[in-house]
Amino acid sequence: MTKLIRFGVSMEEGLLSKFDRLLKAEGYASRSEAIRDLVRRTIVEEEWVTGETVSGSIMLVYNHHHRELLEKIMDIQHDFHEVIISTQHVHMDHDNCLEIIVVKGMAEVIKNVYNHLTALKGVKYTSLSRATTGKKI
Ligand code: NI
Repeated sequence: MTKLIRFGVSMEEGLLSKFDRLLKAEGYASRSEAIRDLVRRTIVEEEWVTGETVSGSIMLVYNHHHRELLEKIMDIQHDFHEVIISTQHVHMDHDNCLEIIVVKGMAEVIKNVYNHLTALKGVKYTSLSRATTGKKI
């Protein structure tokens, strides 16, 4: 088991009150667990900046009637097949599709996939959820 180390944190009273309100609203049992999550989140953000192997998901919303769009989305996914783990396609209604693409690989490559998909004409919305492989946190 990993050794736990206690340390003191000094903080302005007002800032601590806001932090306590926030962690209570989010259901944290203790400040320690909330701080651990903040640290983990910072480490994951750093993984994306330093270009390490990361994981995440890309969400796309698009109109499937748009000419050649499906083919272009498929071409991009094949071009980057080495970082695409899986895709899930949901038919939202008669016109709109939601696609969730799970990715794992070098951060720069994943950002590149995301940028290519976002730039396609006919794609209404994209988002990139930045996660981690979990090895460093
Ligand atoms: Ni569809």
